[in-house]
Amino acid sequence: MKDAWIAPSVLSADFARLGEDVTRVLEAGADLVHFDVMDNHYVPNLTIGPLVCEALRKFGIQAPIDVHLMVKPVDRIVPDFIAAGANYITFHPEASDHVDRTLQLIRDSGCRSGLVFNPATPLGHLSHVMDKVDMVLLMSVNPGFGGQAFIDGTLDKLRHARRLIDESGRDIRLEVDGGVKVDNIGAIAAAGADTFVAGSAIFGSKDYRAIIDAMREAIDKARS
Ligand code: DX5
Ligand code: ZN
Repeated sequence: MKDAWIAPSVLSADFARLGEDVTRVLEAGADLVHFDVMDNHYVPNLTIGPLVCEALRKFGIQAPIDVHLMVKPVDRIVPDFIAAGANYITFHPEASDHVDRTLQLIRDSGCRSGLVFNPATPLGHLSHVMDKVDMVLLMSVNPGFGGQAFIDGTLDKLRHARRLIDESGRDIRLEVDGGVKVDNIGAIAAAGADTFVAGSAIFGSKDYRAIIDAMREAIDKARS
């Protein structure tokens, strides 16, 4: 089983002090930085792009950056994020006309690639590209906003994705995104996730370390 990674979503960070806030959350024990990119087209919200990713690198952030693209089209912006210092780039298959090509574009540039599945999107997109993904991300809310409630049906879908990954024998992380809190993260871990995005639960608290420690404890308990 892979080490559990906690990935705070910068969507809920203090954008006016982003460098400091991301530094604080990493010092509090976070493993990777989840970077939500929204275009007011694929999703009904507008956030941040490659310039902000690059600014975090220039500020001195060295942790891996996990770019979650909620944009359409996808391919045009991929090289910009690679140049800006992304380590993982995940995208929604509905947003790309040529999913295999987009995965290769990401991988060929030395970045790790992943597919993101909305709550109503079946996992079938994976079947012919399992060898080209490093991350499978299941949305446990509809994409576009932080602070929404976890959709319980994601637990069954996680178990299904876990089986597919295990059967493939490949080195693929299983990430979950949306509504992840201290009180449900144990069940999410038990269903097979190893990478946990949390925005409002972490950045909305005063003590980042206390929340991250409590999340890790719940994950360890669920796994033991
Ligand atoms: C939603 C984003 C999430 C969001 C999660 O479209 O992809 O990463 O920030 O926020 P919480 O943890 O508040 O649900
Ligand atoms: Zn996200």
